[in-house]
Amino acid sequence: MTNKRITVTAALPYANGPLHIGHIAGAYLPADIFVRYQRQQKRDVIFMSGSDEHGAAIMLRAKKEEISPREIIDKYHELNKETFERFGISFDMYHRTSEPIHHQTSQGFFTTLYEKGEFTELESEQYYDEEFQQFLADRYITGTCPVCSHPNAYGDQCENCGSSLSPTDLINPKSTLSGKVPVLKPTKHWYLPLDKYQPWLEEWLLEGKKGKWKTNVYGQCSSWLKAGLQPRAMTRDLDWGVDVPLPSTEGKKLYVWLDAPIGYISATKQWALDNGKDWELYWKQQPDEADNSRLIHFIGKDNIVFHCIIFPAILHTHGDYILPENVPANEFLNLEGRKLSTSRNWAVWLHEYLDELPDKQDELRYSLCSIMPETKDSEFTWKDYQAKNNNELVAILGNFVNRTLVLTQKYFDGLVPSRHKLQPIDEEALHQLQEIPNRVSTAIENFNFREAAAHMIDLARAGNKYLADTEPWKVIKADKMRVETILNISLQITASLSVISYPFLPFTSKKLQTMLNFQSTDWSTASANDLLAAGHMLEKPELLFQKIEDEWVEQQINKLHQEDAAKEKKEEPTSDIAPMKEEITYDDFVKLDMRVATILTAEKVKKSKKLLKMTLDTGLDQRTVLSGIAQHYEPEAIIGKQVCVLVNLAPRKMMGIESQGMILMAEDPDGTLLFMQPEGKISDGSGIS
Ligand code: 2FM
Ligand code: ZN
Repeated sequence: MTNKRITVTAALPYANGPLHIGHIAGAYLPADIFVRYQRQQKRDVIFMSGSDEHGAAIMLRAKKEEISPREIIDKYHELNKETFERFGISFDMYHRTSEPIHHQTSQGFFTTLYEKGEFTELESEQYYDEEFQQFLADRYITGTCPVCSHPNAYGDQCENCGSSLSPTDLINPKSTLSGKVPVLKPTKHWYLPLDKYQPWLEEWLLEGKKGKWKTNVYGQCSSWLKAGLQPRAMTRDLDWGVDVPLPSTEGKKLYVWLDAPIGYISATKQWALDNGKDWELYWKQQPDEADNSRLIHFIGKDNIVFHCIIFPAILHTHGDYILPENVPANEFLNLEGRKLSTSRNWAVWLHEYLDELPDKQDELRYSLCSIMPETKDSEFTWKDYQAKNNNELVAILGNFVNRTLVLTQKYFDGLVPSRHKLQPIDEEALHQLQEIPNRVSTAIENFNFREAAAHMIDLARAGNKYLADTEPWKVIKADKMRVETILNISLQITASLSVISYPFLPFTSKKLQTMLNFQSTDWSTASANDLLAAGHMLEKPELLFQKIEDEWVEQQINKLHQEDAAKEKKEEPTSDIAPMKEEITYDDFVKLDMRVATILTAEKVKKSKKLLKMTLDTGLDQRTVLSGIAQHYEPEAIIGKQVCVLVNLAPRKMMGIESQGMILMAEDPDGTLLFMQPEGKISDGSGIS
């Protein structure tokens, strides 16, 4: 790519709660890796984000904590801003949508579109909570999803199946405020005629982005467009948010999804004011198109429609603005076999992690990068975190660097030795040094961050192999000059590692450069074989990473489960608990043959979102059982678990596969499913009564 300007944005998190690892793996870590790398390339890149401080998400949290929306946003804005900083997410500006400059900017957009006659003004019947005297849009209303029947879909979206909804689509709608059934009442709003922009979007997106955007992003957009776009209200009846800049609109605010992405622009304006820059260079079309900034939005998959369809339609209609070149959205991260859930406290909270391990940012950055949900949902487990730390950071990167630096201290008092006549094995190591940084670079440019990090580790792996093959610790007795060459080359590889690790492991890169007494992360030097001149003095080496013990991992897993259990206990009983079924006799009950069984294999059933196919050892036999738990458990995570099974249920065919039994699950009113399990190990086939 060329050296032109790059405007990078990362989704504005709602300031209604702390950040967890799902947020980080979804948007902020990939964005930070990309931006750090672009800075190393000396490109003119800006990195914008901030708190999303409007909308129902904030209001509902304020209601729950019984404090004002202002107190909520102040509390979480500060916490999240600080947490990002501690984790090394290197925003140029972390702004807030409650700032006046943002209110003016988003009102300016609304006014421009209004004056261009783009909005359709429409009075319609909307749900209204009579007790709270409030209209119920977005998250103020829940009900059953008309698409997937999930019982807790919101008025704007079903988080279970991703469908975009209107409150009037919901089956059995219920107010989130009072829990009561709402009534319909007329109200006036301003609608963006997305249907009118459909032909333009088909050309710009479906034709223009084919093969350029990630398939998960492109696929979601094309299904939206295939389904046909509908006008969408850009205003809401609320008392928290950006005022609608029209006369006689008291009690009406801009739709949070209109103002939030404009937050990227307000953030840039504030950054420009603070730094004597021109914000327009990063957002407005330039006289020469080739001089336009490249706009890249990093987001999670639930934000795709807003960034790929609605915001571009707004920017296009406004007329002066550039459009996103790419939106490399990630899928979701699961945690220890279950969906991350803020409300159920099933999460690893970033500020808590940093409180416990203030110097282990890079260990988490690396482990999250290695499992980043780039093309499909992925899973974080503490065991995997430990494995990535112990087997890759400690055993490959740390080990190579440490051996190189310790040997240099030992044989050459910390002075970089000279390089002499090269052997083929040296040429090969130098070849790797030249090639691997380019592979890292290509992968980052293409938003393949997992691959990029793997290439980075490959350079350390190549270094380890070089040391193992050349055995300087044996050669030293007979041929010191040969060892000078070997360590010179190893040190050049180490210096390159300090450069190419910077986007992924910025804290480690700095530590390593301190030990090397060398300071430059300029990417153009990443493949150089002479970053450290002969005679250059190194500092004393220290270990870059420490091994993580099994005990600590167990503690983390226990903590997660304990907090989850505590949360469940605290939760008030809800009226969603299903009523008791009809009475049965003891004779009815004993007809059920329930046994303990172990899951031997598990895999997703093709073309089914819900079903997992499992082989169970029931003690009696090994058999196939299907269960609708694919959205709750990753197959790999459940192999080896003991579960309870109804073994004498008549076989049933689903998706062409015969299921020979039923696994017993507990289902929460919110849709969470959990296995019913024996509390300790017991023989397969044990009866349950
Ligand atoms: O989904 C969310 O958390 C939103 N607050 C993201 C907003 S991104 C942008 F549009 F501001
Ligand atoms: Zn749904």
